[in-house]
Amino acid sequence: MKPYEKLLLENKAWAQEKLEDDPEYFTRLVDIQTPDFLWIGCSDSRVPADSLTGTQPGEIFVHRNIANMVVNTDLNMLSVLQYAVEVLKVKHIIVCGHYGCGGVKAALSNKSLGIIDKWLRNIKDVYRLHKDEFNDIHDEDKRVNKLIEINIQEQIMNLAKTSIVQRAWKNDNRPDLHGWVYDLHDGIIKPIVEIPAKTKLDDIYEFDNL
Ligand code: CO
Repeated sequence: MKPYEKLLLENKAWAQEKLEDDPEYFTRLVDIQTPDFLWIGCSDSRVPADSLTGTQPGEIFVHRNIANMVVNTDLNMLSVLQYAVEVLKVKHIIVCGHYGCGGVKAALSNKSLGIIDKWLRNIKDVYRLHKDEFNDIHDEDKRVNKLIEINIQEQIMNLAKTSIVQRAWKNDNRPDLHGWVYDLHDGIIKPIVEIPAKTKLDDIYEFDNL
């Protein structure tokens, strides 16, 4: 059997198992999608949103990219965000990073890796903004993990800066924004920052005509 054929076989077994547990399982899911959560996570294969959180199909709307970034010119992320907030009406947005993230590690290095340099530049900018916080940290892994945490905080801020989130805050008092970090060593997710709906932002970021 070719390796990819195993995926199709596993899929058949999964579908059958679901049907055995609940004959209506797929018919129910076909017509409705009402997830309460939008998950913005890293593409890393070891950080699957639904397995880590025990969520089932239909419960969590997912966007993943390298190093769980919220980049304000990323049409892909913005489309997911708009759909999740305005159509699905999610109540919570989670940005979940993970310790040891290769994207953040690469951003802290001086190596050019090709087109991904442009993406990682956003993380280098986060580092520059918080450079003082790294003065006393000399261990390489600790520096990476510190930047991972700060980067999550900045991406949560980037969500709050969008008109999409601010409009939903104003009109519907949601979504709350949660920054989490996952530890590959023990499988545990740790919350590191939370911005509830309607939190006051730095003046310059608040739109007053939404
Ligand atoms: Co990663």
